[in-house]
Amino acid sequence: MQRLIEKAELTHCLTRNELVKILSDDGVNEELFNVADRTRKAYVGDEVHLRALIEFSNYCRCNCLYCGIRAENNLVERYRLNKKQILQLAQHASVFGYKTVVLQSGEDLTFNAGYLAEIIAEIKKLDVAVTLSIGERSYEEYKLLKDSGADRFLLRIETTDKVLYKKMHPKADFENRKRCLHDLKKLGFETGTGCLVGLPGQTIESLADDILFFKELDADMIGIGPLIPHPHTPLKDCECGNLMLALKVMALTRLLLPDINIPATTAMETLNPHGRIMALQAGANVVMPNVTAEDVRGKYEIYPNKVGVNYDELSKKLNQIGRTISHKKGSRGQQQQYGKENL
Ligand code: 5AD
Repeated sequence: MQRLIEKAELTHCLTRNELVKILSDDGVNEELFNVADRTRKAYVGDEVHLRALIEFSNYCRCNCLYCGIRAENNLVERYRLNKKQILQLAQHASVFGYKTVVLQSGEDLTFNAGYLAEIIAEIKKLDVAVTLSIGERSYEEYKLLKDSGADRFLLRIETTDKVLYKKMHPKADFENRKRCLHDLKKLGFETGTGCLVGLPGQTIESLADDILFFKELDADMIGIGPLIPHPHTPLKDCECGNLMLALKVMALTRLLLPDINIPATTAMETLNPHGRIMALQAGANVVMPNVTAEDVRGKYEIYPNKVGVNYDELSKKLNQIGRTISHKKGSRGQQQQYGKENL
């Protein structure tokens, strides 16, 4: 097992069988996390990049079985911010020092690409990177968004197990999701994907396939989170995903894609009060604080008890583990391309 982890650190390659072996053996967790932490330090350094998350609409046409804002959940109060409100949040985030703004929503087609493009162009005047997380659209729409100045796009594949994908997303098409990711890459977006850990019926083998998919796509960002069942969804009686397993999938992703950006996800922190720091010491180098206005924040309930980020507390905790908050945009590859002084 030791030898496999060494191989991953040196070559950044593992086979499906090797991934399955490591994922199945909890005796090597500490070693795995240490090696992922060392790899993170060598490739992306000690700075932690912060991304200001704006949840601008919780309307969604999708019906993902696990998600609290799924279309069929009538118990959620829907909201939509307008252009002015979104720009104001972005402006505040920029004044506060954030160098990336993430615009996230349910799949809300009211925000057509033209309207989003106007918003993006305005936000780009603040000299911040813009990341979109708005779901599946056509190539033409993605192109319009890219041309308006958007830099990055997050679209988790959620699971690469086709049968499980169909069960979890009754109306959706796995092939279209992959098409979206390839289009985003082709258009020059820094492209993020990722998966859920703990979906009912998910196997260790399928998690190994997820990691191999990230590598094959050459994803620039990977978000991994444990499932947290939402009481108003069909998965309400499921168990929570296993945090250790989610951390292992994340650590292995760091080993196979050493120079990418990996967030310590909110779902990890929600399951365990130390989850975020654990993740940052097992391969993660990004945190995504929610900057959505308090009055609507509670309505963006993908899963219950979603925790927030206290900036001062985070900054203190980071210093305690020898890390600092970055004041740069923190795109993939900047470290290598420009040298540390220009990050
Ligand atoms: N528990 C954990 N994560 C969830 N997501 C959606 N619903 C849940 C849940 N119940 C994740 C999905 C999505 C991201 C924005 O949130 O992976 O891509």
